[in-house]
Amino acid sequence: MSVAIVRTVAELRVIVADWRRQGMKVAVVPTMGALHAGHLSLVRAALAEADRVIVTLFVNPKQFNNAADLAAYPRTEHEDAAKLAPTGADVLYAPDAGEIYPDGFATTVSVGGVSEGLCGAYRPGHFDGVATVVAKLFLQTGADLAFFGEKDFQQLHVVRRMARDLDIPITVVGCPTVRETDGLAMSSRNVRLSLAEREVAPRLASTLLEAAKKLSGGAPVDQTLAEARTAILTAGFKQVEYLELRAEEDLLPLQNLDRPARLLVAAWLGETRLIDNFKVPPAAVPRARARFRPAA
Ligand code: PAF
Repeated sequence: MSVAIVRTVAELRVIVADWRRQGMKVAVVPTMGALHAGHLSLVRAALAEADRVIVTLFVNPKQFNNAADLAAYPRTEHEDAAKLAPTGADVLYAPDAGEIYPDGFATTVSVGGVSEGLCGAYRPGHFDGVATVVAKLFLQTGADLAFFGEKDFQQLHVVRRMARDLDIPITVVGCPTVRETDGLAMSSRNVRLSLAEREVAPRLASTLLEAAKKLSGGAPVDQTLAEARTAILTAGFKQVEYLELRAEEDLLPLQNLDRPARLLVAAWLGETRLIDNFKVPPAAVPRARARFRPAA
């Protein structure tokens, strides 16, 4: 089995139009390649919901705010196509830069609100680049469904907001983060870690998970976040960019755990920036207390 590689939007539109004539539901899984098990889980989720699946592969220069980071980004199209072949994905859409940003391209999609703070504060222009390319990929593929990993939780919010605001008729589906057996969230950037850094890296997830559990158990937010930040630095990370509790639904900053939340982190391990997040359900109200109303 192999996956069809498509380079141009014109070619892609002919294929999708044919699927549409047959009444098929189409899904897209946007990626920048260097596919790992996390991406493949998105492809499987897409195949479970749609008749046809397009995986896109485009290393988007507009979302890199650092030229060295863009140059170092792994480019492994051949291996990516080989990994996709057994999944049953139908098309690998791998356009050249000119197909996405033709000469004279002058449009930027900028999403307010959910793009601000967190990664948005440390990577200026990053989410404009993401929103612009994802809007193009949604319109070029004409897919009904799009699948994104929850590891990039802020990105998921940005993409949802963008599709809603621009009336792009697509359902954005978030899928759980896939982790290595030691808990490290899968990421195309993990290959950049040295052996020593790879040993330390899972401490980000374990510290975050422990803090999330403490918060759910009713621990004070400020103190728990301060302790977790210290634990990450003590483990060997050189900088914690942010460690914040945000509302699950709209990413608003939270001082108290009064609704379903996410604990989100970005931290540097040597020259590699890692991000992760965990759900933080609000502390359960003890059943006896919830039911019992003292007589007046
Ligand atoms: O998450 C990614 O790999 C990228 O940000 C995306 C969504 C493919 C846009 O370039």
